[in-house]
Amino acid sequence: MLVLGIETSCDETSFAIVEDGRIILSNLISSSINFHKQFGGIIPEAASRYHLEYAILLLDGVLKQAKVGLSDLDLVAVTYGPGLLGSLMIGLNVAKAISFSLKIPLIPVNHVLAHLYAPFLASNSYPPLPAVGLVVSGGHTALFYIKEFDNYELLGKTRDDACGEAFDKVAKILGLGFPGGPIIEEYARKGRKKIKFRCAKFTNSLDFSFSGIKTAVLYYVKENTTGGRRLNEEEIADICASFQESVFKVLVENACKACIMKRTKHLLVGGGVIANSYLRAKISEMGKENQIAVYFPEKELCTDNAAIVAGLGFRLYKLKKIETDYSLEPSPVINMEG
Ligand code: KG4
Ligand code: ZN
Repeated sequence: MLVLGIETSCDETSFAIVEDGRIILSNLISSSINFHKQFGGIIPEAASRYHLEYAILLLDGVLKQAKVGLSDLDLVAVTYGPGLLGSLMIGLNVAKAISFSLKIPLIPVNHVLAHLYAPFLASNSYPPLPAVGLVVSGGHTALFYIKEFDNYELLGKTRDDACGEAFDKVAKILGLGFPGGPIIEEYARKGRKKIKFRCAKFTNSLDFSFSGIKTAVLYYVKENTTGGRRLNEEEIADICASFQESVFKVLVENACKACIMKRTKHLLVGGGVIANSYLRAKISEMGKENQIAVYFPEKELCTDNAAIVAGLGFRLYKLKKIETDYSLEPSPVINMEG
């Protein structure tokens, strides 16, 4: 079954063609991030205009790369939320038009859960379910118990900023540019974990909080830059290493606790921050110590892309045979409590 995936929830416009939820024939991504960089964050109206510009070019591109025609497609899977309203609207309308004109079913996909499908597209393993799922992205940080992709339980979530968002804000405080995650990872490699930034933990809860540690970094920087003094490269590296260490400790601990609580030995991970090599190493270490098998996505499938949407769309279609509903509206916010 050939599935066309469409992802336009934020600044990445992505189209993909995936066969039987496993084999990526093509996965193209165009990002408007370079435009947004000058503002230090995503400008929603501009992001949706870029989606409009890129969408049809990318559709042509994936068909050519996969060497298939429109008439070979069997299903359209599209992100309907959560995300930016104007951005979601573009992807959803393109998906409806393709589905309607080709008379093929349309399946709506939840972007957060799509991140947890990324490990299913890895060539070296195929994760079993049930499993605990940890999503760590720019918009979401959450733990799930996934019995199936249409039957899951939210175990914990951030009470304020998402993890990636905290990376972006700390990078902004340090004047390092946007998005912050990859730059902080790079600095942290050279830094010492010597500054005590505490990341909030909650007793009897698997929730997260990242806004406190971001503020702690802000005050530390203010205290160390009085009188116009500038931080040197070494100091910036130490701040990045210390911040990263503390944030990742809580992510890893909560993921481990969730596996113990649900008595599962399988952990799925996904989302932009999972591209971080140090975090991957920390999660692997925890997995080895606790005999938990961790299923990682390829690094390029951690950040937003349409292959994960096509993959999850296939799985949901097989589970439910959902009927196409052209009245479907974008959902910028989705309550994941179940
Ligand atoms: O999953 P994603 O592409 O978009 C959302 O669904 O939000 O995640 C983007 C986030 C950004 O906040 C970015 O700073 C973070 O992922 N990120 C990283 C790394 N690469 C991307 N954070 C830490 N380390 C990285 N290497
Ligand atoms: Zn995402």
